[in-house]
Amino acid sequence: MKEIDADIVNKVNALRKALHRHNYLYYVLDDPEVSDAEYDRMMRELTALEEAWPELYDPDSPTSRVGAPPLSEFETIAHSIPMLSLGNAFTDSEIIDFDRRVRKILRTDDEILYTVEPKLDGLAVELVYEKGKLIVASTRGDGINGEVITANVRTIRSVPLLLQVNTPTLPSPFKGEGLGGGEKRNIPLRLEVRGEVFISHEGFRSLNEEQLNQNLPPFANPRNAAAGSLRQLDSSITAKRPLEIFFYGVGVTDLRLKSHWETLQTLQELGLRINPLVRSEITIEEAVDYYKALGDKRHLLPYDIDGMVIKVDDLSLQTKLGNTSRSPRWAIAYKFKAMQETTCVLNIDVQVGRTGVLTPVAHLQPVNVGGAMVRRATLHNEDEIERKDIRIGDTVLVQRAGDVIPEVVKVIESKRTGLERIFHMPLNCPVCGSEVVRLKDEAAHRCIGGLNCPAQRKRAIIHFVSRQAMDIEGLGEKLIDQLVDNNIVRTPADLFNLNVSSLASLERMADISVSNLNDAIENSKHTTFGRFIYALGIPNVGETTAKDLAKFFGNLNRLMQAYPKTIQYIPGIATKVAMLIRHFFEEPHNQEVIRQLQTSGVFWDELKNSQAIITFPDFLNWLFAEVKGIGNEKAKSLASSLGSLEKLMGADENILLQIKGINSTLARDIVLFFREPENLKVIKQIQECGVCWDKEAHEIPTPSLLVDGKSFVLTGTLKHLKRDEAKIKIEALGGRVSKSVSGKTDFVIVGTNPGSKLSKATELGIEVLNEEKFIALLAGED
Ligand code: IVH
Repeated sequence: MKEIDADIVNKVNALRKALHRHNYLYYVLDDPEVSDAEYDRMMRELTALEEAWPELYDPDSPTSRVGAPPLSEFETIAHSIPMLSLGNAFTDSEIIDFDRRVRKILRTDDEILYTVEPKLDGLAVELVYEKGKLIVASTRGDGINGEVITANVRTIRSVPLLLQVNTPTLPSPFKGEGLGGGEKRNIPLRLEVRGEVFISHEGFRSLNEEQLNQNLPPFANPRNAAAGSLRQLDSSITAKRPLEIFFYGVGVTDLRLKSHWETLQTLQELGLRINPLVRSEITIEEAVDYYKALGDKRHLLPYDIDGMVIKVDDLSLQTKLGNTSRSPRWAIAYKFKAMQETTCVLNIDVQVGRTGVLTPVAHLQPVNVGGAMVRRATLHNEDEIERKDIRIGDTVLVQRAGDVIPEVVKVIESKRTGLERIFHMPLNCPVCGSEVVRLKDEAAHRCIGGLNCPAQRKRAIIHFVSRQAMDIEGLGEKLIDQLVDNNIVRTPADLFNLNVSSLASLERMADISVSNLNDAIENSKHTTFGRFIYALGIPNVGETTAKDLAKFFGNLNRLMQAYPKTIQYIPGIATKVAMLIRHFFEEPHNQEVIRQLQTSGVFWDELKNSQAIITFPDFLNWLFAEVKGIGNEKAKSLASSLGSLEKLMGADENILLQIKGINSTLARDIVLFFREPENLKVIKQIQECGVCWDKEAHEIPTPSLLVDGKSFVLTGTLKHLKRDEAKIKIEALGGRVSKSVSGKTDFVIVGTNPGSKLSKATELGIEVLNEEKFIALLAGED
């Protein structure tokens, strides 16, 4: 084992100590002392040292927040003190009643002092610290037993893995005196602490963005997102979720505490984050006033709260008051009214997002919902409008839920006058006028303006110049913002006609050398076909698909003309993507930009498309994919009976009907298939792209008509064919081989030393063929 230098041990300890402190300053006090970059640097240094010296492993190191191996199920654990719920109140008079009840039970007329806190809309958890170390964390569960989620809770940045003693720091708006004089406490031997785990609005938005990027369903609201994240069996997933916590109470502990306010202060001093909107030692009237103030502020908070919790501050009074079976008598939740209001839909229009997706938006008669004026509500997509049957002129219930974007809950149908108008998605993009498409299986409508749609322009250009695309170095997002905002660049083609030296005045140009940028633009002109296709930013065409398209089509013209069916010849390209590619190239704006790019000197080396050899039956199987009833077997039968595509295309229904497995419906469908000009073009396109099939092997004339449906019996030894081979050939041509001769037998094939089957055949008058005649029959000669 390597000898560990004392310096290294000291360095690691110092870094751990410093990082614990910076975590506390950042997550608990929201008052960091060092920049994010400095913090990251220390974290990297510690990680590197811990990797180099695994002997120094410590589960409580600030680096260990990445999650533990996945569990197969959660264990449960009993809470030492049940985790109760809270009684609810919705009006001031219910709160006054609560205060009266409290005084009645305590048999006092004295004023009671309360501490109030926002009621967070998340999930309750209990954490147990022993000698300052986080030992176990659990959910509330049924209040008596919770699920053990220690590994998950350890990944939450605002949860300290080790408690520490900090000087009292609570900010000024708090009335309480605290411990005073900067007196420090000791770390408790045991501390059961309770709090609420939640996800902020910002965290929720980025999490859902990530979900969508990974093709996963988005979460309905921050609470669901927090619940789903906390109850993950794989804590490495939890580690990636933006969970946060505020602590609001304790269970069993050896801390000596007199009031709830002192409890909260102490928690904060130990490094446990408490909500900054707590108000301490106030009267019930002040609590009611604060409820209103909090309600007004509610929509400005970065997370969801659904009310305010009022708690009797004095812990000895709390003990006297005790609990009912469900909730404590010393606390009550003063809930906010649901953030819903009714209003009228004045109009519905659509917004074009950065990826071309059209989102319908309702313009509402402005209405105050939970303290914020609501003028617009997203309607998500056309299906959603249809499902809720929202019409222009409707009276609707709007809600501001977890996400700050308000939405329409439902239509108040009783308010319908009959004058309401049904909304239809526009056929053209309201921003650029390009066609709007809605693809099968997609809820969204999209503008296919791509490179040309101003709503999508910046993004299209950022993509166009990116490293994997045209790779124009020096054209950063900020500069592109300015170029687009100042209308200097409207399409990617404009980049190649920039008068770079005239840009010197632009803000972001200062630090970029004009000649470097000029060179970068000039050099990017010579590219590969794959990069060029990728750079166009066709929806759903990533680098791999772009490369596959380049390889298959070899040249731009062929790609631009290609039908979706032709494109789908490339393995892995779904119908939806093939349609998007076709739509993209059909759009006149896009055609124009491509033409401009070419005239601006963008070029690539033409590829010789690769010869793709396929068997004829496999080709037919692919070609007829959309013709119902033609699968592998029938494709084989068509291929072997007719031998060539030309013959198949020329065959009429009568000829087709004689082929094994082809009934009149299929025969008609096949004939119709070849009458469809698009299908003929697809075949041509496929062949031009170099797809070919081995004609020789299948170039069998049409002998099958003589064999198809006929019954054969073989007897004696054949010279040129083995029995099995003969059988295969007969069956391939649609015939059957039987063991014995009967009235249904059509031919008996006779080799040398025939058996009794020959005499039976003669007896029944069945046609007898020798081997030569049999071979001629197989070859189609009558
Ligand atoms: S005190 C025995 N304080 O509300 C009292 N609860 O309905 C225990 N909650 O399960 C609760 N913020 O999940 C308390 N500041 C706060 C709270 C809070 C949210 C939740 C908690 C609890 C539920 C009770």
